[in-house]
Formats: sequence, structure tokens, C-alpha cells
Amino acid sequence: MNAGRRGIVLCEAGPLDARVIAELHLQCFADGLGGAAWGAASIAKVLSLPGSYAYLAVVAPEKAAVRAAAATPALAGFLLAHILAGESEILSLGVATAWRRHGAARALLRAAMERAGRAGAARTLLEVAEGNMAARGLYAAEGFALVKRWPRYYRQPGGTAAAALVFARDLP
Ligand SMILES: CC(C)(COP(=O)(O)OP(=O)(O)OC[C@H]1O[C@@H](n2cnc3c(N)ncnc32)[C@H](O)[C@@H]1OP(=O)(O)O)[C@@H](O)C(=O)NCCC(=O)NCCS
Repeated sequence: MNAGRRGIVLCEAGPLDARVIAELHLQCFADGLGGAAWGAASIAKVLSLPGSYAYLAVVAPEKAAVRAAAATPALAGFLLAHILAGESEILSLGVATAWRRHGAARALLRAAMERAGRAGAARTLLEVAEGNMAARGLYAAEGFALVKRWPRYYRQPGGTAAAALVFARDLP
């Protein structure tokens, strides 16, 4: 699956990809924004449940070679999602720091929504930490609307808690 911009392609992932996804998940959520990082076992478990699916954004070889000096991994991003009772939920989404603002998250999100629409889901939902302005920028740009605010939802380093915002978008 071609993700369009700058040498990034999408492919489907499954429980066997849990380890590499967990490594990138840890990198993406190291700041504690959005809760604790998920381990490989949890990711594998999620991906083995009915209705779950995942995509990887992988750097095409020529780009990987260009960036090899910076030891950038070939995995640029991931998205985990599931479909339940006619709605799809984005469970987690992350892009490696070196590959941000290259359109990877947008491509992953669109692929997930397209798949959910094909499976008959009426809308896609997701949660995001209130202070996560990068993710909120992405969801606003992709047409998501705020439906709920959960106060003190994410535990933060240092014992504080951050609110979660729930966004939704109807699927065609
Ligand atoms: C949020 C995140 C997934 C975005 O990934 P990305 O691949 O850099 O996003 P894209 O390049 O696809 O950006 C698509 C659009 O989203 C918006 N966007 C992305 N990053 C943004 C930022 N830092 N500030 C404002 N808007 C942003 C822009 O509208 C952007 O379009 P543009 O580049 O043409 O202006 C990435 O920053 C990330 O992994 N953050 C850490 C983990 C995380 O927060 N995950 C989401 C939890 S809900």
C-alpha cells in the first residue's frame, strides 16, 4: 500500500509485529503524554482480538539508506485500531521523531478509516491527551470533532493527571 509522500509505504501488521511496535510506542510516548507505553505482550494481545487491526508505515529502502547515518529505524509509524458494534476506535498511533511531518500519521489514519468504512463502521473515535497539540492538529486537519472531555484521565509523571479529549468523525 502506497502512503504517497516521501518514501513511506503502509503495510498491514499483526501480533507478530508486536515487538517492533512496542519499541516505537515506547519512543513515541516516552514523555508520558497519553499514558504509559504499552509492552509487546499487551500489543500482541490487542492484535489477536476479533475486530482488531494495525498498519505500519515503513520507510522505503532508499530513504532508509539516506538516513542510516542517524540510525533511523525502517519503521516510521504504527496505528492500532479495532471495530466494535459498528464503530471503529483508533487505539494508538505514533510516528518516529525522525519521520514526523512527512504525512505518515495522516496516511495511517486514512487507511484505518477506509478499512473501518469498508467493514461497515459508521464512525471513528479516538482519545487524545488535552495537551497533545500535534495530535490534535492532525485530528482537526482530518475532520474530527470533539465529543467529550474526560478530566484527570491520563496519569502523568510526577503524580499529576491530564484530561483526555474524545474526538469522532463520521465515515462515508
Ligand atoms: C501526532 C503524530 C502521530 C503526528 O504524526 P506525523 O506523521 O508527524 O503527522 P503528519 O505528518 O501525518 O501530519 C498531518 C497533519 O497533522 C497536523 N500536524 C501534525 N503534527 C503537527 C504538529 N506538531 N503541530 C500541529 N499540527 C500538526 C498538520 O495539519 C499536518 O499536516 P501538514 O504537515 O501538511 O501541516 C506524531 O507527532 C506522534 O507520533 N506524536 C507522539 C505520539 C502521539 O501523540 N500519538 C497520538 C496520540 S492520540
